[in-house]
Amino acid sequence: MEPAARSGGPVNRTRLGELTARETRRFAAAHPRCAAAHERSRRSMPGGVPMSWMAKWAGGFPIAVAEAAGAHLRCLDGHDHVDLCLGDTGAMAGHSPAPTVRAVAAQAARGITTMLPGEDAAAVAEELARRFGLPAWQFTLTATDANRHVLRYARHLTGRRKIAVIDYCYHGSVDEAFATLDRSGAVVARRGNLGPPVAPELTTVVVPFNDVAALERALAGGEVACLLAEPAMTNIGIVLPEPGWHAAARALTRAAGTLLVLDETHTLCAGPGGATRADGLEPDLLVVGKAIGGGVPVGAFGMTAELAERIPASVELEDVDLGGVGGTLAGSPLSLAATRATLAEVLTDATFGHMVELGRRWEAGVAGVLARYGLPWHVTRLGCRAEYGFAADPPRDGAAAAAADDFALQTYLHLHALNRGVLLTPFHNMALMSPATTAADVDRHTEVFDRAAGDLLG
Ligand SMILES: Cc1ncc(COP(=O)(O)O)c(C=O)c1O
Repeated sequence: MEPAARSGGPVNRTRLGELTARETRRFAAAHPRCAAAHERSRRSMPGGVPMSWMAKWAGGFPIAVAEAAGAHLRCLDGHDHVDLCLGDTGAMAGHSPAPTVRAVAAQAARGITTMLPGEDAAAVAEELARRFGLPAWQFTLTATDANRHVLRYARHLTGRRKIAVIDYCYHGSVDEAFATLDRSGAVVARRGNLGPPVAPELTTVVVPFNDVAALERALAGGEVACLLAEPAMTNIGIVLPEPGWHAAARALTRAAGTLLVLDETHTLCAGPGGATRADGLEPDLLVVGKAIGGGVPVGAFGMTAELAERIPASVELEDVDLGGVGGTLAGSPLSLAATRATLAEVLTDATFGHMVELGRRWEAGVAGVLARYGLPWHVTRLGCRAEYGFAADPPRDGAAAAAADDFALQTYLHLHALNRGVLLTPFHNMALMSPATTAADVDRHTEVFDRAAGDLLG
């Protein structure tokens, strides 16, 4: 088991406890309607939430949303919030962007799901090919599904059993990825891994991010079908690649006959073609999801021309619906209409410029507060996504990022922000900018973060 996290530097724990209790009382007093909605929900849903992880919001119960539009969200109690969480990237295009809403409404009126292609599918595939440089695409309902399918194809095509993942990665609810390294370097289940189908060491090899020698050792036995990795880690805070990591990972995977899969679901924040385009990366397969549908469920995976030929050639037509790759609603007209409009009119090259600029502003605001109070924390940014962490220096791998985690401190900071109308992603300290986010939204966070730090140290 990983220990419960607690770092945070010069934070007085008694004061932290008192402040969290104060903020919890304030939250409850300001949200009677949200509390009542939660009470009702508890009678029909475990934890009172439609999906278990929604219980992780600070405050004891989640706010219930009355309406979300652009970069703002209003709860049942009528409070306006700047939404820097944006559905943990699902709403990176902003809530209900007008072009997506129009396309969804038009498509909903002429067929929501058909299990047949329309014209939008090829248009989306062509646009993804233009952005990411891979020519052939398939569509799913979620990025998790896209990852699962890619792992199956990788094992199928290489005839190898194992998958390599990065220590402390997250790729959705993908069984192979819930593995970490224990102190002796052995592969073990991640803390919280529910009912793993088999022991993770049977399916998975784990490599610390930025550790070229470890990757070389992991691939040396020739039993790894693919390396599944984010271009930069985004789910344990942001951990950026060191110079040389990507070139080495590409060269080592090629030499070992291991496919390289880049999961750009979150790192799309780096630009319109993700980190792959921004940094000239050359994956064999690429996964993307969440944001590209403007909030409508969709996932996609792209592949090289060679793989696009080998896959259909290696599967009997009679078996294509039975191989563990699929999903009845995958590639639905509704998903693809939403994705076409979102890519063409919302998450465009031009809007990324605005989003990245705001990411810089958020980063500078947080850095200013840390400097003012002498807090030994850091702030990191990847395009329009930024994040602070409770260690003086940015971590170079997932284990270092996890060691700097501090759940109690994070809970206080999130709740303090929530009480003042700013939503941060519950799982860590991430802020994301959408095309609809404004400089005033960012400055509101800086102001609130300043007060939280002042209360903590004052
Ligand atoms: C990098 C990455 N890949 C895949 C996923 C899975 O996305 P979804 O939950 O939409 O399937 C996530 C979810 O957070 C993610 O962070």
